[in-house]
Amino acid sequence: MCGIVGYVGQQSALEVVVEGLRRMEYRGYDSAGVAIVNAEGLATDKRAGKLANLEKSLAEVPLPPATAGIGHTRWATHGAPNDVNAHPHVSEHGDVAVVHNGIIENFAELRDELERTGTELVSETDTEVTAHLLSRAYADLPDRPDRLAAAMRVVCRRLEGAFTLVAVHRDHDGTVVGARRSSPLVAGIGTGEYFLASDVAAFIAHTRDALELGEDQVVEIDRERGINITDFDGHPAEGNEYHVDWDAGAAEKGGYAWFMLKEIAEQPAAVADTLRGRLSAGGDIVLDEVRLSEEDLRDVDKIFVIACGTAYHAGLVAKYAIEHWTRIPCEVELASEFRYRDPVLDRSTLVIAISQSGETMDTLKALRHAKEQRARILSICNTNGSTMPRESDAVLYTRAGPEVAVASTKCFLAQITACYLVALYLARVRGVKYGDEVAAIVAQLRGMPALIEQTLATMEPVRELGRDLATAPTVLFLGRHVGYPIALEGALKLKELAYIHAEGFAGGELKHGPIALIDHGTPVVVIVPSPRGRNIMHGKVVNNIQEVRARGGRMIVIAEEGDDAVNAFADLVIRVPVAPTLLAPLLTSVPLQVLACEIADARGNDVDQPRNLAKSVTVE
Ligand code: AGP
Repeated sequence: MCGIVGYVGQQSALEVVVEGLRRMEYRGYDSAGVAIVNAEGLATDKRAGKLANLEKSLAEVPLPPATAGIGHTRWATHGAPNDVNAHPHVSEHGDVAVVHNGIIENFAELRDELERTGTELVSETDTEVTAHLLSRAYADLPDRPDRLAAAMRVVCRRLEGAFTLVAVHRDHDGTVVGARRSSPLVAGIGTGEYFLASDVAAFIAHTRDALELGEDQVVEIDRERGINITDFDGHPAEGNEYHVDWDAGAAEKGGYAWFMLKEIAEQPAAVADTLRGRLSAGGDIVLDEVRLSEEDLRDVDKIFVIACGTAYHAGLVAKYAIEHWTRIPCEVELASEFRYRDPVLDRSTLVIAISQSGETMDTLKALRHAKEQRARILSICNTNGSTMPRESDAVLYTRAGPEVAVASTKCFLAQITACYLVALYLARVRGVKYGDEVAAIVAQLRGMPALIEQTLATMEPVRELGRDLATAPTVLFLGRHVGYPIALEGALKLKELAYIHAEGFAGGELKHGPIALIDHGTPVVVIVPSPRGRNIMHGKVVNNIQEVRARGGRMIVIAEEGDDAVNAFADLVIRVPVAPTLLAPLLTSVPLQVLACEIADARGNDVDQPRNLAKSVTVE
């Protein structure tokens, strides 16, 4: 998820664009860049690191004055965060500059085509191919006022994946062109000036009249000709006009009260983007960025997953899939405990380190210990260029975009998704699963973003419950099988956000102690496994519900649609769509995130910055 800005008008393009980037730094901040175009042509500057690095460079070597330009803050998906990989990317003849948000899934074949026909690419990014393609498409078109928009249409018809592109050409100093597919792009309509941006936060200081672009549309903003929208084939199209009534702060949160709520809502995209480009058309797994050879992976006879907090819970969920699909023994360990117990590791051990930040010291130290013991290290990380990927043999990036709220939500679902990809890849490489079996699971995975969206749309009863539980002294969470790690995660969310005592435990453990905690009215949240899977578990969990209910517990049950066996024993049933057993955690997590967030909000807590916590714990 990156931040994009484009401007055409009477003001200083550089000032408007840099200010817009500052408003969107939460969308990505590992590098930033700008391009301006005036009668003399195109000029660009881009720097790795925070926006301040770019501003320092611009202060030292100012760009020429201009009233048209584009800018970008990057959250790297392809290519380390450095000056070369920063956006804008410029075509080989220096005539086109482009910025991009998203993933060009067919960039490798486009890159090969460009290199075979004489273009030398300089960056590791997928974006750079669009700059060269735009330049070539422009050169092949007759001169016309909307020549750059026409070139953009030619290029967009060749791209696969999700993208927002915004570009300028040195011969059109009053024009900025944009395009979008499965990635946001909104236009701002001012008086004699126009804006393009990833979200309205970039321009609401100038205008609140916005126009949201639709799927597969190209938009041209031009000082003389105004705003023109077409589809990728050039047919006139319309966007969705609206007036923005959020303040700047709310705009950064997409209108949500908290970043956490925005990030909960971004979970379908986080899962979809983590899958994107890693599933072949035939339903196979394509992890070309994982630099472990198939031979290495066939040698693996033991897997350890190491992580902390929510990432640890993602590993606990993944364990069920890893063992079920690969038949390799898998242990999931708290990173802070791992190296002190002197684990048995060797070249045939695969250690999977899961971390959103890639900087958690407990996990980093455990990773280094495993490396000293000659284990092979695969990191699952959300932050390109962070320490863990650099110290690993291979990395699979979750593509959840920056997660601003301290409480991890969209990264949690993306981590589980990435673990599923690794497990399927291992199963395929080792011949434990046939291609059609992997393809069947891949098809189920592809359907999960829509089911998460469905779940998000039915959360009002959960928000009501949250307000009702705001003063509860304790909440217990209970689950079995893959529902057990979700019970642990639900308890962690409540602890870290609402500062309420909460405990998650395995349903089978109830009678071995925790049931003594049940008092009259004690809220107990139960994650019920599907009756369609291993239905013996379903019956046992229903028994657990009855045991707790008989002792006065207040039963809050999360169950799949159509599972009516729970109705008689539940005070509240929260429904999630039907999903395969091993993928259900991607849905059952959502009500627990919403519940914790609502309770915290009702208690007047700072949901995004809970007390005593940091987003990345870089000390042991
Ligand atoms: C989860 O909501 C917390 N923010 C915390 O448990 C977090 O998951 C843990 O500190 C690990 O962080 P990492 O993923 O950046 O390594």
